[in-house]
Amino acid sequence: MRRVRVAGVQMDPKILEKEKNLSKCLEFLETAAKKKAEIIVFPECALTGYCFSSLEESFSVAEPVLGPSSRAIASLCTELNVYTIIGFLERDGEKYYNTVVLIGPKGLIGKYRKIHLPFLGIDRFVNPGDQPLKVFKTGVGRIGMNICFDVRMPESARILTLLGAESIMLPTNWPKGAELVPKYVINARAYENRVNFIAVNRVGKERGFEFIGQSKIVDYSGKTLVEANSLKEEIIFATIDLDGARKKHVILVPGEFELPLFKGRRPEFYGILVKAINTY
Ligand code: ACM
Repeated sequence: MRRVRVAGVQMDPKILEKEKNLSKCLEFLETAAKKKAEIIVFPECALTGYCFSSLEESFSVAEPVLGPSSRAIASLCTELNVYTIIGFLERDGEKYYNTVVLIGPKGLIGKYRKIHLPFLGIDRFVNPGDQPLKVFKTGVGRIGMNICFDVRMPESARILTLLGAESIMLPTNWPKGAELVPKYVINARAYENRVNFIAVNRVGKERGFEFIGQSKIVDYSGKTLVEANSLKEEIIFATIDLDGARKKHVILVPGEFELPLFKGRRPEFYGILVKAINTY
């Protein structure tokens, strides 16, 4: 059985204090690796903060994907022989994105630019992600990435699952008002897709917004393996089963009660899902 020990770092990044956030992330990375985590997931915008008042305000902390922060993180991942996923603000020429990178012991593996943007924080000003959802084959399984508000669009997790994801990583910044997302939505996405789901939120206050923590690791059956129930910084750990997430045909009573969750799909009736109809 292929199993992976995952850590979620629920932390309190400070807006505009990139150096401080980076050194804190490096410390957390080391602590989680010492406790045998193989992949360590950080929140959305962990290096930069999130509640910016303008795009210009974020210029001093935005970086290219292969910038100094990801290089520092990559060299520690090499030293510790771990994988990580971490959120920051990406600068690519004249464009800015809310991005997460996936880094392993051999360096950068991939990135994901948030495609669904709420009207909140820096998401009011960045460019929407311009690249398709993708699954990365790594030494810790097949990984798909979403960021925060993406999880409100069930298509995001479904597409990653159809592309072969065994785990979906969701760096997030849930403020007050988002309580039902950790309470129900994360487990529902795991359950409906039979995929491991790792949601890592931040804590603390930023410009009038208070973040609610409640990071959690849910297995492919929809069961919560661990959740952060405090509003403090903490690291949560759980071991997930990658092979289990590949079994999409659920057998309760052989031949009598079986659920073909993926073979039973009827995409010929789902056409409206891919039409740009905005009725609401
Ligand atoms: C969010 O997408 N950060 C709510």
